Amino acid sequence: MRAVDIIIKKREKGELTREEIKFFVDGFTHGEIPDYQVSAWAMAVLLNGMSPRETTDLTLAMAHSGEILDLSDVVDIAMDKHSSGGVGDKTTLVVLPVVVACGLPVGKMSGRGLGFSGGTLDKMESIPGYRVNLSTDEFKKQLRSDGIVLTGQSFDLAPADGKLYALRDVTGTVQSIPLIASSIMSKKIAAGAQAIVLDIKVGLGAFMETLDDARKLANLMTGIGRLAGCEVVTLLSDMNQPLGEAVGNSLEVIEAINTLHGHGPSGFREHCLHVSAHMLVLGHRAPELETGRRMAEAAIASGAAFEKYRVLVRAQGGDMSFVDDPGKFPKAKFVDLIKADRSGTLSRVHARLIGEAAVALGAGRTRIGDPVDHAVGLIIHHKVGEQVERGESLVTIYANDPEKQRAVGEGLRAAFGWSDKPFAALPLFYK
Ligand code: URA
Repeated sequence: MRAVDIIIKKREKGELTREEIKFFVDGFTHGEIPDYQVSAWAMAVLLNGMSPRETTDLTLAMAHSGEILDLSDVVDIAMDKHSSGGVGDKTTLVVLPVVVACGLPVGKMSGRGLGFSGGTLDKMESIPGYRVNLSTDEFKKQLRSDGIVLTGQSFDLAPADGKLYALRDVTGTVQSIPLIASSIMSKKIAAGAQAIVLDIKVGLGAFMETLDDARKLANLMTGIGRLAGCEVVTLLSDMNQPLGEAVGNSLEVIEAINTLHGHGPSGFREHCLHVSAHMLVLGHRAPELETGRRMAEAAIASGAAFEKYRVLVRAQGGDMSFVDDPGKFPKAKFVDLIKADRSGTLSRVHARLIGEAAVALGAGRTRIGDPVDHAVGLIIHHKVGEQVERGESLVTIYANDPEKQRAVGEGLRAAFGWSDKPFAALPLFYK
């Protein structure tokens, strides 16, 4: 076989065989197919798509391009949760301790933020000392002893995806449903997941901007999961506006801790309860969603969920004094308020523009490996559908650089849309 023939076949809208896909994936994993051919192939896939069968073959070839983690000697069911990424999405920080407190152990590998979308590892690293580079042995040991792990991908899970994703990121080929589905599912299968709750974000601050595309992605991933022997529940949730109020690393950790104490923003808390309930049902700890939800509420109300968060942070070397007193997180030097310059109902709180503003302050990175400033970010004071009076606070900006603060402040007004009539609040979930 020749890589160029496989590229041409996809360019001409052909359907690749399992053997051709495996040849291509093995070739680029081992460096035998150069980046320029992989890039051309990715563009052909983006433009011409893949059938569900091709996407499944691609997923399995990428999943088997490296080690496959086996957790069967550690947990009765290897449960995972994955969000397709968004702005202010600190759900894992709440949901993990909640379900663990309800008796469902979870070891999760998360990623860093890239572009306007934040990353769980960057958030957790706001806590001094917190380690995100556990070895496989440490991962299993901690999952066995504490029932909770939240770390990075420290060994070579699905290395083919690592290579392909890095190329997609710089060749305009991220936004392809088959490539996104295979990228996410290959890592989950390689991480040994037997059951996954997938939280697919839809809207202005998500990879999938329309419900139609999000549904296609959801169906594809659910189908791939089933074929790989993994049960998948997919939720379609809103990412037109940020989730919760805080956007930025330590600000989001503080919001997560408040939520674990029962005080977080109501929409974010509701989102976490719903995801937790699905995990508890899928993990056979609750017979149906309503019970799962009540279990999750009780874990927060009793303090058991917060206690599990403490167990997690302690196990991974984090400074507990920050968890017990979030007032200790370093403050950004400059704090500014943007106030409404009119009265009306908010019709838009643009998640992507807000995510980009947080990155511009230094909360995120535009290139892999850039440092992040854990203290900076934004608090968004209102949601779509809320009535706001002129002079009320819209956003608080936390900055360490007055120049960036000024630039972000000027641009942020464009994130807010106004209506003179009542405007419906956005749902948390679409399906
Ligand atoms: N997350 C991934 O891991 N891969 C994608 O392609 C998109 C989001």
